[in-house]
Amino acid sequence: MIDTQLDAQGVLTLTWDMPGKKQNVFDADAMAAFDEAVDAALATEGLTGIVITSAKRDFIAGADLSMLEGMAFGEGRTAKALYGQIGALSRTLRKLETGGVPVVAALNGTALGGGFELALACHRIVVADESRIQLGLPEGTLGLLPGAGGTQRLPRRVGAQASLPLLLEGKRLSPQEALAAGVVDEVVPADGLLAAAKAWLATGPKAVQPWDRKGFRPPGGSTKEPDVANVFMVASAMFQAKTFGNYPAGKAILSCVYEGLRLDIDSALEVEKRYFVELLLDPVAGNMIRTMFVSLGEANKGARRPVGVEPLDVRRVGVLGAGLMGAGIAYAAAKAGLAAVVLDTDADKAAGAVAYARGIEDRKVAKGRGTPEQRDALLARIQPTTSFDDLADCDVVIEAVFEDRAVKADVTRKADAVLSDRAVLASNTSTLPITGLAEASSRPERFVGLHFFSPVEKMQLVEVIVGDRTSEPTLAHALDVVKALRKTPIVVRDSRGFYTSRVFGTYVSEGLALLREGVAPALIENAGRMLGMPMPPLALADEVGLGLMHQVGRQTRADLGDAAPDNPGTPVLATMVETLGRTGKRGGAGFYGYAEGGKRLWPGLAEQFPLAAAQPSVEAVKERLLLVQVLEACRCMDAELLRAPADADVGAVLGWGFAPWTGGPLAYVDTLGASQVVGRADALAAELGPRFSPPPLLRRMAERGERFYG
Ligand code: NAI
Repeated sequence: MIDTQLDAQGVLTLTWDMPGKKQNVFDADAMAAFDEAVDAALATEGLTGIVITSAKRDFIAGADLSMLEGMAFGEGRTAKALYGQIGALSRTLRKLETGGVPVVAALNGTALGGGFELALACHRIVVADESRIQLGLPEGTLGLLPGAGGTQRLPRRVGAQASLPLLLEGKRLSPQEALAAGVVDEVVPADGLLAAAKAWLATGPKAVQPWDRKGFRPPGGSTKEPDVANVFMVASAMFQAKTFGNYPAGKAILSCVYEGLRLDIDSALEVEKRYFVELLLDPVAGNMIRTMFVSLGEANKGARRPVGVEPLDVRRVGVLGAGLMGAGIAYAAAKAGLAAVVLDTDADKAAGAVAYARGIEDRKVAKGRGTPEQRDALLARIQPTTSFDDLADCDVVIEAVFEDRAVKADVTRKADAVLSDRAVLASNTSTLPITGLAEASSRPERFVGLHFFSPVEKMQLVEVIVGDRTSEPTLAHALDVVKALRKTPIVVRDSRGFYTSRVFGTYVSEGLALLREGVAPALIENAGRMLGMPMPPLALADEVGLGLMHQVGRQTRADLGDAAPDNPGTPVLATMVETLGRTGKRGGAGFYGYAEGGKRLWPGLAEQFPLAAAQPSVEAVKERLLLVQVLEACRCMDAELLRAPADADVGAVLGWGFAPWTGGPLAYVDTLGASQVVGRADALAAELGPRFSPPPLLRRMAERGERFYG
């Protein structure tokens, strides 16, 4: 795990190399091995210095996330037990920095979280000069805080003010940025890393950290000084305004630094541990880690891929339609190193896909995040065409033409005629059932839905839609395609609205229902923001387009008749679109006005939807906006549209930004308890109608005390 080598000068090099892992991480074994290695090192006779480095490409990637998930959800965990567990690394690091021997961290690669905290406990940090290397403390973004001294040593190195963005936002620095910020001491060419570390040791440095010297004053001063205390007042206010108290980690980090900087380092480390345990006991961190890291990672590794199917070797991706989505998909393919062939009705339109990719890449080059050579190589991988013959060698063809059954059927037949039997044919339709579209294909078992999100280059999620006739090998190969495109898949059975649009739609509709009842528009919007949704419901409706939503609603009612779901937003859309001609943001007017000087809620709403005499509390509005989505997600589980709870939660957070602090709608049910959710839902259903009725699955779970996650 950790190799040791003593040289003639008495310098001991500890090299991290966890067997069987691509990266070094802190798990229970690694922490024990490191503690032993430190003890053994400090007991070495004639020792003049220690160098810590890694044999992997990266230094240490941080804590093992499954271990953190286990701590957050483990059986019978208590504050006391957690305190002992999480304190282990902190104690080892303190031993290292006070052992009387100078220690250098020689960072040959990325060092994050606990890995970077280890470096901060060394007397000197030397880094290889490579732009791929990232240094930082991302724990705050996982709902946690750096619990091995990071909240104390970083501010003692660079000052409270400079440390806060790094701790709160988990900002990652390149070696040069870290050097400029004073976070590390020296950046050297990669092949001179160990030599530089040893050269510093050869100068006979003192093995005492600045914060262990008498009279130490952190850069900028301690938080007892008014200027520094002011920084915290402003930072707290800003953080609260941005997060509405949904993320306890930020508050805990601010408290840790504020309190810790008034204390000696040993007492400060105790304060840090106390806040860390508090966060572990709060459901937010565990839910976020499970959904956004553990479940997401498993989805990326193909958790839902049918077993035993030979992988599809994906090299060449065909795209039909070079519009917004087609161009985005072609770009994603080229970016992932694949060849993309993009077909449209004329050459200019097809070439639009290359222009789209060039736009993105030019911006990257201008920002120094890519070279002209990289850009040109990427663009060369996108081949525009108007001829179906050019699709012949594709491993998959993804259709993204107009949302029109006849047009889609036509291109499906033409693609089928040239494709090999083993190629997958996929549709990016957002509303048309896959089973129906597959009827146009001569090989419906090779037909599948790949629902991308806009803008494709930024949105990580792909909903893989399994039609009635899609075969399991085709599903496996569709997941191979998503992996080759470096996106995250969830698997959804074909049905109206699939999963994401269906559940997301209830959030917007509930906003419209509230408006119709006479709830103040500003109250509705604030409640959406406070819930932690990326956009409030009325603004979101404008963004999607009121005209489009109205049309989709009409189509659904025409298709389903009495079976169409109860949609409380329908009359509001009819008024807005048919009576008022306000069709949303693109049309220049919706629930908001979009005149010069920015967007503002349209004052005329008061006349159309008169305010009710009694207004609900903001908490009541938040509850409705949240529960309506949670219940719809549960209905999707009840109908077995999804194969695992993890897909529902990952899809919600990545697909429409469902309040990330919850870890997703099903994690939220587990946190609250199914019986609590059923109780609230029944009460709301009595008042507002069947859209709040809990589905049978949820009632069963409540009766039996079951959870979505084991
Ligand atoms: P778009 O209108 O920007 O692009 C469609 C492209 O298809 C146009 O370039 C058009 O010239 C081309 N096209 C039309 N008929 C063709 C044919 N017979 N042969 C070859 N090319 C043809 O539309 P957009 O927004 O890119 O949507 C495409 C598909 O993706 C639709 O099915 C849509 O529902 C779906 N989708 C759209 C999302 C969005 O946010 N815009 C999100 C997810 C899916």
